[in-house]
Amino acid sequence: MSVDRIHLSVLHMGVHELEFVQEAFSTNWLSSVGPNLDAFEEDVSALLGGQHGALAVASGTAALHLILRAIGVESGDRVAVSSLTFAGSVFPILYQGAQPVFIDSEETSGNIDPSLVEEYLHAAAAKGALPRALVAVHLYGQHADIDRIAAACREHGVVLIEDAAESLGATYKGRPTASTADYAILSFNGNKIITTTGGGMVLARDRAQLARMKKWANQSREPAIEYLHQEYGYNYRMSNVLAGIGRGQLRVLSERVAQRRAVFERYREALQGVPGVTLQPEAPWGTHTRWLSVAYIDDVITGIGAHALVQQLAAQDIEARPVWRPMHTQPLFTSAEKVGGAVAERLYSSGICLPSSSSLALEAQERVIAALRSALSVSE
Ligand SMILES: Cc1ncc(COP(=O)(O)O)c(C=O)c1O
Repeated sequence: MSVDRIHLSVLHMGVHELEFVQEAFSTNWLSSVGPNLDAFEEDVSALLGGQHGALAVASGTAALHLILRAIGVESGDRVAVSSLTFAGSVFPILYQGAQPVFIDSEETSGNIDPSLVEEYLHAAAAKGALPRALVAVHLYGQHADIDRIAAACREHGVVLIEDAAESLGATYKGRPTASTADYAILSFNGNKIITTTGGGMVLARDRAQLARMKKWANQSREPAIEYLHQEYGYNYRMSNVLAGIGRGQLRVLSERVAQRRAVFERYREALQGVPGVTLQPEAPWGTHTRWLSVAYIDDVITGIGAHALVQQLAAQDIEARPVWRPMHTQPLFTSAEKVGGAVAERLYSSGICLPSSSSLALEAQERVIAALRSALSVSE
């Protein structure tokens, strides 16, 4: 791999992460308990308005698994989820033996469509086939249009879970992402806007539920001097060392949002007026972090499809990606229930995620823009 390779989204440390990690080493808090964990959870909870308790775990996927179990999802249940998403939003549904129901996107943000959610829950209630929960994913740094979704879930007794793995730093009508439902998850995977190199978090309004999840994440150890178990658990807890990285990263979150938005702005300026290329709009309901900058390519007008464009950029050592392949089109889910799907398929076939790192240097971004203009046959 060339040293000049431009990646899609890379880790970007601030100046405080190492201090917290060093503190963990010097005090020997190097396992799955310790002051960094407590402080990281408190800091995230406070950042999100303080109404939710936080539990730091090994991944966003683990966080969602814990929540699904806590709210009673079990074998044979349905769980509705955005079709246009990463597998981490969906696999935990299978861990619980439940079935996903994939719901299509609305055009603006690509997130789950509130009108379809209303229609689907109404029809499912009439059939006596309501899902137990609905996972609304906030894609690429932009919050879903959640108010109508939340109202429909409330009306039908469906638990709403925010998958905010990609949206930390975003807002919805002035509220922070991951604070607009009873439950939410975050991911601190290495490619996210801030990271613990790998990790996730559960957010829950109900502290008793959070305590159950904390116990399960610690192998369901009962408070006893011996290893006593009344129920099964998981080894899902985050380490105190990684929580130290998270504490440092939280301090630069707003800076990272501004940097990613600036990267997007430069793409927008450079590509505006190029026929057949549209940058993803910012929905009127909140701030988009631009975790990933997304462009849509009309292959008829430009003469090149989004996926061919990804390959052309790769040939020049530039990493781009197609938009998530909708879950209802995955070989694993050919027989799964779905509601619509055409919008997600269109966004997938025309969408491309451009290099979006907050540390992306101006010259590197110029290289991406030049490669795009050349592939799109735009004259200087
Ligand atoms: C939308 C979405 N949900 C869930 C996850 C799972 O998070 P993790 O990788 O921390 O398990 C990710 C990404 O990593 C994601 O992008």
